[in-house]
Amino acid sequence: MSTLLIQTEAGICAITINRPDKLNALNKEVFNDLEKAIDEVYTNPEIKSAIITGSGNKAFVAGADISEFLELKSNDATTLAKRGHDVFDKIENCPKPIIAAVNGFALGGGCELALACHFIYASENARFGQPEVNLGLIPGYGGTQRLVQVTGKGRAMELIMTGKVVTAKEAMDYGIVNEIFPPEELLAKAKETLSLINSKAPIAVSKVIECINNFDHNQQGYDFEIKKFSECFQTDDMKEGASAFLEKRKPAFKGR
Ligand code: COA
Repeated sequence: MSTLLIQTEAGICAITINRPDKLNALNKEVFNDLEKAIDEVYTNPEIKSAIITGSGNKAFVAGADISEFLELKSNDATTLAKRGHDVFDKIENCPKPIIAAVNGFALGGGCELALACHFIYASENARFGQPEVNLGLIPGYGGTQRLVQVTGKGRAMELIMTGKVVTAKEAMDYGIVNEIFPPEELLAKAKETLSLINSKAPIAVSKVIECINNFDHNQQGYDFEIKKFSECFQTDDMKEGASAFLEKRKPAFKGR
């Protein structure tokens, strides 16, 4: 697959998003490839569990690909958000465990991708944030719903409204990250944990995932997020925010 590197060893499928020159930003092609890779995790009996990580040492995923935003109308944005939700829901509901190994920036859609995995390990240089407000946007791939589940309401409100980027240590204090490792140990530690889980009864493990995902699962919140995300695409502020990022300047928001 052109945007992913995939390697399966001892029942663990390591999926690496591989667009390092764009900090592994999620474009349409990455979503298509990621969906195929996750389908393979679901169906291939040789695969017992998976890891999702990013290529290079700078980023896990620096977000949705902003260069795809400017041409989008509100209804295209609904399609874009639904596509992201479908792929991330597939990750969340995978009957085999998936760890996000966050090895750098996990911003916007990158943070949402990590949150869709069953749990998160991070390297010391990992950074987390939902900076969509800087673009005149809100998280559109489940972030408003999944972040609050791990951090609680106050932190989720603060992180999403400020768009601030936090360190791996802060993310661990907030409940986003389970454990932090030196960068060179991150994948090995994720594999060690998955080997332990792979030694347990697979049907029991899949039912754990199902049950925990069903804790207070409110589908309405996800649908509401898609609606509000696409409404942002009717604003001048969104066009200004995305243009400013691509032109490497500060946005001037007008509130319309
Ligand atoms: N979408 C598209 N391209 C992106 C991207 C994104 N989300 N994030 C980074 N890139 C691209 C940059 O445009 C740049 O491309 P170029 O070399 O062709 O100009 C390249 O990746 C490297 O990024 P750059 O911004 O030069 O790196 P940096 O070290 O100065 O900054 C970040 C790193 C992560 C702080 C910065 O890239 C950033 O803020 N990214 C956007 C984060 C974001 O808003 N995500 C939410 C999207 S909804």
